[in-house]
Parts: sequence; C-alpha cells; structure tokens
Amino acid sequence: MERTLSILKPDVTKRNLTGEVNTMIEKAGFKIIAQKKIRMTPEIAGGFYGEHREKPFFGDLCRIMSAAPVVVQVLEKHNAIELYRHLMGATNPEKADEGTIRKKYGISLDENSVHGSDSAKSAEREISFFFSDLEIVG
Ligand code: RTP
Ligand code: MG
Repeated sequence: MERTLSILKPDVTKRNLTGEVNTMIEKAGFKIIAQKKIRMTPEIAGGFYGEHREKPFFGDLCRIMSAAPVVVQVLEKHNAIELYRHLMGATNPEKADEGTIRKKYGISLDENSVHGSDSAKSAEREISFFFSDLEIVG
C-alpha cells in the first residue's frame, strides 16, 4: 500500500463539490484514511508549495490556495501516487483527459480543483506537513 497527499482546492469547496470529488476518488479505489477542512494563510500555502518559490505564478498560487478553505486528505491504494496523478489529469484542465477530476471540475490552470503529491519523497513531506500520525487512521 502507498499513501499520497491530496488537496481539494478552494474552487471545489466554494462550489460545494467536496462530496462529488470524493465520490470520484472512492470509486477509483482510493481509501480516504485522513481528512480535514482547513483555511491556509498565504504564508502556509507558500511553505507547502516551497518548490515553486521562484516561479512567476508563485504569488497567485499562494493567494488562490488561501482564498477559501481547502480539504486536505491522505489517500491509500497500491501505487497511489502515480494513480492519483492519473485520476487528477493534466495541470491545465483544457489538456486533461476525459474521466479525470480536472477535466470534469477544473476551471483554469489556476483553479484546477485538486493537488496530488508528485513523488514518494513529496508525499512523505506533504503528509507530515498537514497530519500527525494520530490523525491518519488507516
Ligand atoms: P499541484 O502541485 O497543485 O498538484 O499541480 P501540478 O503538480 O499538476 O502542477 P505544478 O507544476 O506543481 O504547479 C502547482 C500549481 O500551480 C498552478 N500554476 N501552475 N505551470 C504553470 O504555469 C502554472 N501556473 C499556475 C497550478 O494551479 C498548479 O496546480
Ligand atoms: Mg505539483
């Protein structure tokens, strides 16, 4: 079993789509083993997305991710990291395949509905960024 960190972004929570996205996640065979709704500050969002600090979109990313609550969750499945990236679809919803979360719900490159860890190293860092061991219930 493998674990990945997922975020349902502000565009999902603002449109009351948390349940619909979670249904897609569960129907694809992921187990939601930890989940909470939080409101990030721009500073916390910047810490989470630290790898993008030098990118031109970093300021907008921090602003958008802190503009409304998000749902952070830990997903478990065999090969969860790669399979969740598949279920999410391409970063730009216009380029996402049919059947993916971003194709169905993404609005734009900035409001693309979900985040998923991109490697085992990222998953470990990102899960412990938001959750203590006690909060991950298998
Ligand atoms: P995420 O980290 O949110 O799962 O998205 P990702 O791996 O598919 O894309 P990444 O390159 O890590 O970018 C993080 C978020 O920044 C916003 N953004 N990207 N590449 C760009 O030109 C660009 N512009 C804005 C997106 O919302 C992307 O999800
Ligand atoms: Mg990324």
